[in-house]
Amino acid sequence: MNLHYQTNDKGHLAIGGADALDLAQEYGTPLYVVDEMRVRENYRRVYQAFSQEYKKFQIFYAAKANTNLAVMRILEEEGSGIDAVSPGEIYTSLLAGFEPERILYTGNNITTTELEFALKSGVRINVDSVSQLQRLAELPRSDGLKISFRVNPMVGAGHHDHCITGGELSKFGIMEHEAVDVYNMALDLGFRPVGIHTHIGSGILDPEPFKLAVKVLMDVAGQVHGETGVNFEFIDFGGGLGIPYTPDEPQLEIETFAREITRLFKEKIYEYGLNNPTLCIEPGRYIVGDASYLLTRVNTVKQSYRKFVGVDAGFNTLLRPTMYGSYHHILVGDKPEARAQENLDVAGNICESGDLFARERPLPKIKEGDVLAIMNAGAYAFSMASQYNSRPRPAEVLVRKGEVDIIRERETFADLLSKQNLPVRLLK
Ligand code: LLP
Repeated sequence: MNLHYQTNDKGHLAIGGADALDLAQEYGTPLYVVDEMRVRENYRRVYQAFSQEYKKFQIFYAAKANTNLAVMRILEEEGSGIDAVSPGEIYTSLLAGFEPERILYTGNNITTTELEFALKSGVRINVDSVSQLQRLAELPRSDGLKISFRVNPMVGAGHHDHCITGGELSKFGIMEHEAVDVYNMALDLGFRPVGIHTHIGSGILDPEPFKLAVKVLMDVAGQVHGETGVNFEFIDFGGGLGIPYTPDEPQLEIETFAREITRLFKEKIYEYGLNNPTLCIEPGRYIVGDASYLLTRVNTVKQSYRKFVGVDAGFNTLLRPTMYGSYHHILVGDKPEARAQENLDVAGNICESGDLFARERPLPKIKEGDVLAIMNAGAYAFSMASQYNSRPRPAEVLVRKGEVDIIRERETFADLLSKQNLPVRLLK
């Protein structure tokens, strides 16, 4: 089993030293539980794997995976930078204590107002299109600005079509064959292009496409350097490092992966005479994915045409199974080691048939009142949650050595209405 979890002396699921059943009892369900040490361990594992191969290495944690302030504070303490995708993420990152220079803003189809916000915040802007470049050039104080470009290397990979961001169907980045012209244009407009970036997709367990993208990006960087004289301060290969979701999916061998990537990188630096740029990557899922569980309580066991286990969470709290058909392993809180006895459908409380956490899943005997723990709920889980069906979003707690802190209050009905206004003519 490649999935990571711990049990305590009662045989219950333990998260960061706390009993999952106690957490569910005390803080209510549905509940997101973040294991602080797991976030730190995951970060350190990637950092060490790469930095032991190449000293000038920087991680830009992809905040979109999990934007909880506490999680971001933890990663700031660890020394991470941020890959931000929106002004909201820039705002949150600054609040979490990240220096603007450690925030790389990679926006797609962003407005001039958003560019202005980024410029004023002092973050590094990673340009996605010629349109963005030209609009940035028109803003006051953009002269001499250090920028980078996102390049589509015509290689893509990911766990689902929606998550493949390289290749001819992708809306992201500039084309590799226009790179020299675009860097020249940037120089003519008075910018200082110092970086190059790519991100080919998300949920990658096979290193091959990633390696191919590294090769392509390095060749583009070499060509740009050769033909425009641009000196790269950093080269960023994006995120996408996958984690196992099913018990028998392989782990990404992070040390081998890091060794292969850095070897390619160093060969190309040498080949093109690049001046030891910083190697950057932007993992999101790899750092936070397996550090959280979604605890949910069974309220209904129903034999219909199939056997359903009904829980108090729905796709508004964890969209991935519904949106991508993603598998999320489910443990029974008081017996995570128990053997499967029957095939069950685990369904949520949202009024749509697609609201399923599992279909035909082999599970142990489950009864009403049981707490289920949905694994790998740290990445793209709360950050994609909604209030659909007027269901307030759940609370989040952070656990470390058995100590528990509420890091996000459970929403209330008032939160459902907080920004709504009733026109006077409709008042009763
Ligand atoms: N860098 C950029 C520019 C990105 O767009 C992303 C993710 C990342 C880094 C981090 O990727 P990661 O290491 O987490 O795979 N909602 C989907 C994933 C969408 C990812 C979007 N971009 C899911 O739940 O699988």
